[in-house]
Formats: sequence, C-alpha cells, structure tokens
Amino acid sequence: MYARAMVIIIIISYLVVTHALEQAVIAPKTQYIIHNPGASHIGIPTSSALRQFRHDDGSCGGFVAFGDSYSAGIGTGVEGEENDCRQGLHAYPQLIAADCGPTAFQFLSCTGAGTTDVMVGEDASSSSASLPADFALLSIGGNDLGFFEVMNACVFRFYNFYSGTCETALAHSRAMLASDEFENRLRIVIMEILDKIRWEKKPWFTITMTGYARFFNELTDGCDNMSFGVWWDGPRLTKALRSEMNALVLTVNTKLRKTIDAINSDFTKDKVIFIDYDDAFDGHRFCEVNVTEPDYERTDTWFFLVGGPDNARNGTESQRLSEAKTLPPSSPLVDPLLCVGPARQSGDWGMLALCYMAMTKYLNPTLRSAQGAQGDIQAMNSMWYVPTYYGKTFHPKSLGHEMIRNRIYETWHRVDE
Ligand SMILES: *[C@@H]1O[C@H](CO)[C@@H](O)[C@H](O)[C@H]1NC(C)=O
Ligand SMILES: *[C@@H]1O[C@H](CO)[C@@H](O)[C@H](O)[C@H]1NC(C)=O
Ligand SMILES: *[C@@H]1O[C@H](CO)[C@@H](O)[C@H](O)[C@H]1NC(C)=O
Repeated sequence: MYARAMVIIIIISYLVVTHALEQAVIAPKTQYIIHNPGASHIGIPTSSALRQFRHDDGSCGGFVAFGDSYSAGIGTGVEGEENDCRQGLHAYPQLIAADCGPTAFQFLSCTGAGTTDVMVGEDASSSSASLPADFALLSIGGNDLGFFEVMNACVFRFYNFYSGTCETALAHSRAMLASDEFENRLRIVIMEILDKIRWEKKPWFTITMTGYARFFNELTDGCDNMSFGVWWDGPRLTKALRSEMNALVLTVNTKLRKTIDAINSDFTKDKVIFIDYDDAFDGHRFCEVNVTEPDYERTDTWFFLVGGPDNARNGTESQRLSEAKTLPPSSPLVDPLLCVGPARQSGDWGMLALCYMAMTKYLNPTLRSAQGAQGDIQAMNSMWYVPTYYGKTFHPKSLGHEMIRNRIYETWHRVDE
C-alpha cells in the first residue's frame, strides 16, 4: 500500500514536470483538430474512458498512432490534398485526438506499412529522443499476412488471369500465420515502441492494438452469384469463398491476441491492450441480407468498395469534405511497363491495384471491365488514376472508425476498473 502510494506520488510529480516540458518541445508533424458533434460515445463519458491518460489540466497528454492503412483511415476524407500515407480525417486515432481536446498527437500511421516499416515513418532527426507519448495506438498485420494478395486473387482480380489463384493466396497467408516469423516481427515492433517511449520511466504507458473485422456475411444465398471483380466475368462471392476469407481474418485476430498475451506475460502489468471489434461489424459487412452486391451506396456497409462513397455522418467535417469537389488527381499516370516495382515497394494497395489494371489493359487491350456498358475501364471515371480509389477497398468507412473508437473506449474503461 505504502509502495503503491509512493509510486503514485512519483508518477504525479513526473507528470507535472514532464507535461510542462512536453508542451514546450512538441511540434508534431501532423496535428488536426476536428469537430465531431455527431458522436454519442456509447454512454461511457469520454472523460471516463480517457481518464487514465488525463493530466492534471484535463488534457490527454501526448499519443502516437502507428501502423497501417486501418489506423491511417484511408478514404475517410482529407482537407486539401491527400498525403502519401493516405491519412483520413475520420480515422479512429483522429477521433480520439478530437475527444482529447488539445493534445500532442503524432499521426504516424501509413498506408502500406508492415511490421518492418512501423518505426520508419518517424522523423529521423528525433530518432534518439524519446517520444513524448502517454499511450500509443497500433494497427498492423494485414500487409505482412498478404491481405492484398488475397483480395486481389479471390475478389477483385485487378491483374485479371495473372492475379494467381485464390487458393494460392490463401495458402500463403495461412502459412505466414502458422510460422513464427510474423509473431517475432510483431514482438520486435512492440518492443521498439516501448523502447522509444522509455517505458520504464512511464509505468502507465500502454499500446492499444486493434485487430481486423470479417468482411462478409457468409450465410446469405443472394451473393453466391454476385461479383466484385473489376473485369468482366470476375470471381463469384460464393459462401465457400466468403467463409474462407472470414476464417482468415479470425485467425489473424487470434494470432494477434496470442502474440500480445505472450508479450504481456513478460511484464508485471499489461503493456499491450488488444481490441477485437469484429462482432461490432455484424450487419455492416458485405453480402448482408437483401443486399445486392456490389452496393456502393449502402450506408450500413462499413467497408469501402472500389470508388464507393464514405458514410460519414451528415453535418460532420468529413462528410462536408467528401461532398466537396475532389482535387484533380496528382498521381502520375501509371506506366504499365514500369509501375510494378515501385508499387510493390510501397505496399500501397491502391498503387498495386492501379498498376495491375494498367498492365492488364496493356496486355489485353480488348478486355472489358465489369461495368460493361462503358466497355473501357479507363473511361469509367476521372478518378481512375487516383490510388485511393482502389486502395480504400475493404477498409473501414467513417462509421466503422467510430465503432472502432467506441470499442477502444469500452475496453479502456474495463481495463481501468
Ligand atoms: C449467374 O450470373 C451469370 C452472369 O452474371 C448468369 O449468366 C448466370 O445465369 C447466373 N447463374 C445463376 C444460377 O443465377
Ligand atoms: C428482406 O426482404 C424480405 C422480403 O422483402 C423481407 O420480408 C425481410 O424483412 C427483409 N429482411 C431484412 C433483414 O431486411
Ligand atoms: C445522410 O442523409 C442522407 C439523405 O437524407 C441519407 O440517405 C444518409 O443515409 C445519411 N447518412 C448517414 C451516415 O446517416
């Protein structure tokens, strides 16, 4: 009891001192203040969910978001021109930053990131300094485990018959999951973050890591003969395919949780909190009852389709921005002979999809797109050359990000009790 009181006193004095210091030094690269009047926050007062991170003055202290496009929030609206990491305004880390009020928030999540890139997004000049953060958010795994290859081979077939078979892509992901390699890499990423933060000086510091959600309702008959394929006569969304892809996501979540449990067991107090929000997406996946896919307009579907609109709440900033005229695409035209190296390097799904489609069109100039009427996929839409148009597919829309944030608050609230 006495020891505990001492620890608390030390923490409080440390907070007071470091907080003043941090306010002076932090100039985060990316800091947005967004207004989010629509959020009702599931009956748990934000103040309570964020309580453990609050400083004396009521602010949240600093936090960092690391990881892939799932925390970068690709497709959820941008102010002005999109950055290379395709960070969206309604990404769940942004929502948490908005709830915090003034906070030193560093948004380092980057579309395409895998376990080997997590710490790379950081400003090199500050590499020796500790990150002024009281907690971190992390989403990682999908790129290491070949989600894009599965999506490409089994669902969209951007590279038409060169996309490889669905079974090969699934087998590759399963093999990665079964090996120790991914687990070891995830452990390294988490230890690097803890190191960077100087966790031994911040006993309250935790990493909150989110998983993934199943993409399909796998029970409906209606979808069996429907397709998301970008070329004519694409693969069908059969129950067998939907359940295999769903099973893969569940296996990934199980793997993440198991790895995190193993890491936590090395510490006296849990350092990593896993957020499983999968069940919250029930009713909000593809192929739900009475839905004819591809249904681009369905607000209740919380994942994006190729080029489909977001579902930000009416009246919010992201909704206003998504309605606004999109800026002319700044990405260079895709050269089918040169694009594949850089696209693979980036890990950006949108760049890969775009490149594969350009290569397909180059190799088969007469091939018809699935949108048949126009015949030529390039004529479909002026957004054809914008990678985000493709890269956001199978990522959460704005309402999905709100639900992920809510799950994080619920879990924090529980952990805090
Ligand atoms: C499935 O769709 C294809 C073309 O979209 C059509 O030719 C075929 O008859 C359909 N099959 C069934 C069982 O509905
Ligand atoms: C699906 O459509 C049927 C027939 O129109 C209707 O009776 C049923 O309530 C609908 N189910 C859902 C979940 O919307
Ligand atoms: C916004 O309003 C439109 C028109 O009333 C409605 O169809 C849409 O579902 C609303 N969006 C959301 C996210 O509630």
